[in-house]
Amino acid sequence: MKGLILSGGEGTRLRPLTYSQQKQLIPVANKPVLFYGIEGLIEAGIKDIGIIVGPNKEQVENAVNNAKFNATFKFIYQDAPRGLAHAVKIAKKFIGDESFVMYLGDNILMQSLNDFVNGFEESDESARILLCPVDDPSRYGVAKVNEKGEVIKLVEKPKEFISNLGLIGVYAFKNKIFDACDAIKPSWRNELEITDAIQWLINNKFKVPARITNGWWKDTGKAEDMIDANRLILDSLKEQNLGNVENTKIEGRVFIDRDSKISNSTVRGPVIIGKNCEIENSYIGPYTSIGNFCKLNNTEIENSIVLDKAEISEVRKIYDSLIGKEVKIFKKQTIPKGKKFVVGDRSILEI
Ligand code: G1P
Repeated sequence: MKGLILSGGEGTRLRPLTYSQQKQLIPVANKPVLFYGIEGLIEAGIKDIGIIVGPNKEQVENAVNNAKFNATFKFIYQDAPRGLAHAVKIAKKFIGDESFVMYLGDNILMQSLNDFVNGFEESDESARILLCPVDDPSRYGVAKVNEKGEVIKLVEKPKEFISNLGLIGVYAFKNKIFDACDAIKPSWRNELEITDAIQWLINNKFKVPARITNGWWKDTGKAEDMIDANRLILDSLKEQNLGNVENTKIEGRVFIDRDSKISNSTVRGPVIIGKNCEIENSYIGPYTSIGNFCKLNNTEIENSIVLDKAEISEVRKIYDSLIGKEVKIFKKQTIPKGKKFVVGDRSILEI
């Protein structure tokens, strides 16, 4: 069985961060979102993985190759975001005759993929999909399932309610999916929708059962989704201190990576702090991820993500924020009270 991970697209809803970085490489709990999917596939025994890449092809290739996963990767270039079914079509040569799991690289799932994948290859199913109850079905592809657990209807971004079961970005397919992807036409958003391809399988009497999960999953397409995902992942953080902590109150589960210095501060977990950070006279509150080489001075922050090399000085209090790489935020004149930031890489804010 092979894996196919999608890591292309322009990430328009995560601008400005995606001007300089492929959206699936933005870290959540100090790990690129894409790596959660790769690790999920490897854990399910899938080690021959194709990755669909777009405009930032080299960035994705370098990040994946440098991470030295125990798997082999084939990078497949998609010239424009033409839809998930288009991605399947261009992966046909890589997939060959095998069955495969497709994983949307901007999704993070709590549960392991093992149960979902088990038995699929040997089964008479043409596809298997994973569903989760969602509050806002109009944002997703949704599926209606009968009492036997078979999918009977799918709609992408439904305008009228048909079901609250949203399609999670994980699918298992046999070869028939290539015929389905060839048979469909682009949707109103001018994409070849995998949802339509699966509907084609159903219309042509191929077996498509669904698995329903109640574990959490996140499509990290927007800043607030990333912050949510960060919170959910930090909930199972293991504590460890590899840094240098002085006169600092550490409460709850806190992970401090090597060569980071923290002094005269309070860190209230769950919090992850990357390598080579300098933190002084600050408060780092629950559900915060601080990247590598960050500097925080006289600052209070919580429920936020701070990317590598950001510098923040004298800001109280930052919350629910996503702060890009090399951003500098420092106090100029007035005392800020509550502030909320979603700022891009290399921004400089004077406040
Ligand atoms: C895609 C799929 C949709 C699915 C969603 C999950 O949507 O088309 O069916 O529910 O991923 O994240 P998109 O991210 O392209 O809007």
